[in-house]
Parts: sequence; C-alpha cells; structure tokens
Amino acid sequence: MKGIILAGGTGTRLYPITEGISKQLMPIYDKPMIFYPLSTLMNAGIRDILIITTEVDQENFKRLLKDGKHLGINISYAVQESPRGLADAFIVGEEFIGDDSCCMILGDNIFYGDKFSKKLLRARENADNGYATIFGYKVKDPERFGIMEIDKDKNVLSIEEKPEIPKSKYAVTGLYFYPKGVSLKAKKVRPSKRGEIEITTLNEMYLNDGLLKASMLGEGFTWYDTGTFDSEVDAILMIRSIQNNKDEIICCPEAIAYRNSWISKDELRIRAELLSKNAYGNYLKKLVDEN
Ligand code: DAU
Repeated sequence: MKGIILAGGTGTRLYPITEGISKQLMPIYDKPMIFYPLSTLMNAGIRDILIITTEVDQENFKRLLKDGKHLGINISYAVQESPRGLADAFIVGEEFIGDDSCCMILGDNIFYGDKFSKKLLRARENADNGYATIFGYKVKDPERFGIMEIDKDKNVLSIEEKPEIPKSKYAVTGLYFYPKGVSLKAKKVRPSKRGEIEITTLNEMYLNDGLLKASMLGEGFTWYDTGTFDSEVDAILMIRSIQNNKDEIICCPEAIAYRNSWISKDELRIRAELLSKNAYGNYLKKLVDEN
C-alpha cells in the first residue's frame, strides 16, 4: 500500500502566519505539524510515502524530511499546481500509486488514541479486498466538515460536504483508505459548486457502488483538524498534556520506525545525538538506552 500526505493549499485561514511558512510545517507543540500525519501512515505500516505540496514550499519539506531513509521509509515529493480539491491528490499521485492500494491523509490532521493501529490495519485489509474506508469522529461543529450519516450497524447512508443542516454529528476525518484504481475514479469526479474536486464526491462513488466502510473513532480518541487558530491551540495543549502525563513523546516518527524495526539502534542513536538539546532528543536517547 502507498501513502500520500496532502500538504498543499493556500493556508489563507491562517494568514498572516502562513504567508511566510506552509501551514503543515507550523509547530504543534514540539514537532512540525506534518510529523503527526506521517506517524499515522507509519503506524499503518506504510513505507512508501508521497508528500504533495505547493511548488514554493517543497524545498522546506525536503529539508525537513529528506528521502526518509533516517526513518526507514521512502519519501518522494510532488507539486500540486493549484488547490483543485482533495481528490486531486490521486491524480497528482497517479504514477506514484501505480497499481497499488492507497491511503491518503491530510497534512493538518492529528489522530491519537487507543487501538488505532488495529483500526488502520483493518482499513488496509478492506482496501486489499476492494473496499474504501473512511473514519468518523463526533464533533460539536458539524457544519465545518464532511458529514456521514450512519445506521445503527454503522453502515454509511450518506455523506455531505459542509452541510448547512447536518444529518449527524459524525465528521468524516481527513484519513482515507482506497483499493487499487482510485486514480481512475478520482478523474471522474466533477468539480463541485465551489469549484473543487471533492473527496466527498469520490467517497459517494464508493458508497453508491456498495464499497464504502466506516470506522468510528469513539470515546477516548482524539482527532484534530488544525485548520483554525483555536483548533491549533487546542491540539498543542492536548499534545503537551498527554506527553507530560505519559512522560513520552507521542506521534514520534523515529520511535515508530525503531519499534517497527525499520531503523537500527545505531541509526536511532544518530538522530538522538542530533536532537540532543531538548526533550525530543532525550526521549530518543532513552529509547536507545532502554531497548
Ligand atoms: O479535516 C477533515 C475535513 O477536510 C473533511 O471533513 C472534509 O470533508 C474535507 O473536505 C476537508 O475539509 P477542509 O475544509 O478542512 O478542507 P481544506 O480545503 O481546508 O483542505 C484540507 C487540507 O488540505 C488543508 O491543509 C489544505 C490541503 N489542501 C486542500 C485543497 C483543497 C491541499 O493540499 N490541496 C487542495 O487542493
């Protein structure tokens, strides 16, 4: 399975900050925002990852993440010329995806919770069996999101993009698993009223074909779309509080790579030494010393 992080867009909602820096490189507490979606893909066992950015921002992402070898993964980069819509990720990434299944995550989405890896693995299995999977999360402001209507057995009945009168409070989060052939389907998506090729339209196609499954992220799970100043601050405070309570760095790509045996102890030590001036590096050093 291939993985895509969609990290383009204009970031106008976060101006003036994002006039000078890509939103997905902004800090969420002690690490750049993109480390969080990257961790999610790595927790799903995905090692071939495409990062889609704007042309001007690409260099900065490359400086940060390079080719991914230090994390035991292969990172490649592509430019999205203009923010045509989320489904465009599969058109920009068509060659990269090839004949494989694909997981796409938005570069500003943070997922953290119990048994998440199990849910990710189930979504991968669904993709291998020809099904797409979306993830639902209960929100208090459903007008801001794609919204799924589900029945009592968690079958998806409908999905709507930012409905004025939402049929439920379950947001479709920015994490999507698709079986092979997603690029062909994405090319059939017609632009919406706001002129975007919507991921919601793509998901509706799978729904209409009876090939869409929903996985619900329930109690004890945390999801943030850090698309506004307030949600960004909420996410920062949450990460700080979890890390202080657990005495652990969460969504840490180096730690995931090490636990997955994708990098050796020596490779982890090199990263720990490079970052040794703060708690992040000390955490990596602790992992080297403990295991
Ligand atoms: O976060 C979950 C929500 O993400 C879903 O519930 C919605 O169904 C989905 O449409 C999306 O809504 P947003 O309003 O958050 O989408 P936005 O246009 O802000 O784009 C999300 C991220 O993707 C943002 O960081 C910018 C990036 N992006 C966006 C577009 C349209 C791109 O890189 N390229 C694009 O063409």
